[in-house]
Amino acid sequence: MDLADLAFLDSPAGIAALGVGTAYDDSAHARATAGDAAAVDPLKAVTALRKALPLLDAPAASAVLTQVRLRRRARPRLGDLVDDLLLTEDGLEQATRTVVADQRARRYADSGATHVADLGCGLGLDSAAFARAGLRVTAVERDPLVAALARRNLAALGHADLVTVAEGDITDEQVLTAALADADAAYGDPARRDPATQHDGRSVRVTDPESWSPPWSWVVALAARVPRTAAKVAPGVDHALIPDGGCGTWTSVDGQLVEAELAWPALARDGFRRSAVVIRGGVAFPSIEWCSLDLADEEPSPIGAVGAWLLEPDDAVIRSGLVSHVASRVEGRLLDPRVAYVTTDADIDVGPLAARFRVEQPLPYDLDALRAALVARGVGHVVVKKRAIGADPDDVRRRLRLPAAPGSAVVILTRIGDARWAFVCDVASGRS
Ligand SMILES: C[S@@+](CC[C@H](N)C(=O)[O-])C[C@H]1O[C@@H](n2cnc3c(N)ncnc32)[C@H](O)[C@@H]1O
Repeated sequence: MDLADLAFLDSPAGIAALGVGTAYDDSAHARATAGDAAAVDPLKAVTALRKALPLLDAPAASAVLTQVRLRRRARPRLGDLVDDLLLTEDGLEQATRTVVADQRARRYADSGATHVADLGCGLGLDSAAFARAGLRVTAVERDPLVAALARRNLAALGHADLVTVAEGDITDEQVLTAALADADAAYGDPARRDPATQHDGRSVRVTDPESWSPPWSWVVALAARVPRTAAKVAPGVDHALIPDGGCGTWTSVDGQLVEAELAWPALARDGFRRSAVVIRGGVAFPSIEWCSLDLADEEPSPIGAVGAWLLEPDDAVIRSGLVSHVASRVEGRLLDPRVAYVTTDADIDVGPLAARFRVEQPLPYDLDALRAALVARGVGHVVVKKRAIGADPDDVRRRLRLPAAPGSAVVILTRIGDARWAFVCDVASGRS
């Protein structure tokens, strides 16, 4: 995508072509779902689009179909907003999920913020959420094409009155001063990809916070200037980066850990240090939020033998270091102090904070012994899960070579001390 593509896609001819391309793509996917696997074919799509619109040249057709494909891919994360967006591969990769952006924006609004500087706004998905929460936004983006797309997207979403998008480098003091002039809050979402290093057509992830753009030390300096500051970070972020008096929040959506956010005290909730937010069912369902005081002050979880139930905490709970809270909430214990499986004697539902499995048979892990146990139980189909053990679940399932049988089971492989264990669990109990 370049600025010429953007100008075309935003013109009446481009909008009409997007409509035709989308209708073709919807019908191709419907045919594929009905069994015609060959219906979704990029070459057929180009031919169909150019047949329907003979004046469309090949680059324009390709730009239209790229948008159609990106919108389809974006819909599960961004929802129906995608119909109004123009996207790039990298921009979509880095865009905040709508449900998460809306939660954050509400927190900014609840903190008393009225005007947020969104510094490094990308395609504008966080800016849009701030505007939906009624906040004014000054957004800044360094990449000229991405800035133009953000401006166009925010206008298409109806936020032009609340949001202004400037093109510029926020590490330039003049640009930053201008962006902060009317703002009483700031938000950063440093780029954690290096556009100069590509792999499989996508820019490569950067893990060192000082190599993010802007670097983490810049975000820390920003927070010293604007107390109401938070930043989206990689879920694997070091807990030591949680600001003094601030809060780290790890969020999962439908079982997938999607982001972490570090907030300075003015945006932290009631002095909580770490929080796991577990969202299920997309935007339609309410989220579950669970906060904890700093674990350093707390008693470690008891350790003990496996009980009737095994609980597998959600990744947001694990990455936020709140597994011991699941254990204490269910009066359970850990099997091993370093492994995130909680066990209980009673069945206690903690909702989506942890999936629960009824333990049918614990046994020291040995493939032949496990196979014999499963065959004896009439199990022909297994789901293998594992933690802290160097086994590949798909490989284990294949090597079990179970004969056809009507029964199903979940097999959980883990380590207790130095010993490897397998737990055969009832498949019907695993809920998350
Ligand atoms: C992770 S993306 C933001 C995504 C955005 N929050 C969203 O949900 O759509 C980070 C953006 O920051 C921009 N960026 C990186 N360094 C910058 C800088 N020094 N000045 C301005 N923008 C910058 C990148 O070009 C990229 O588009």
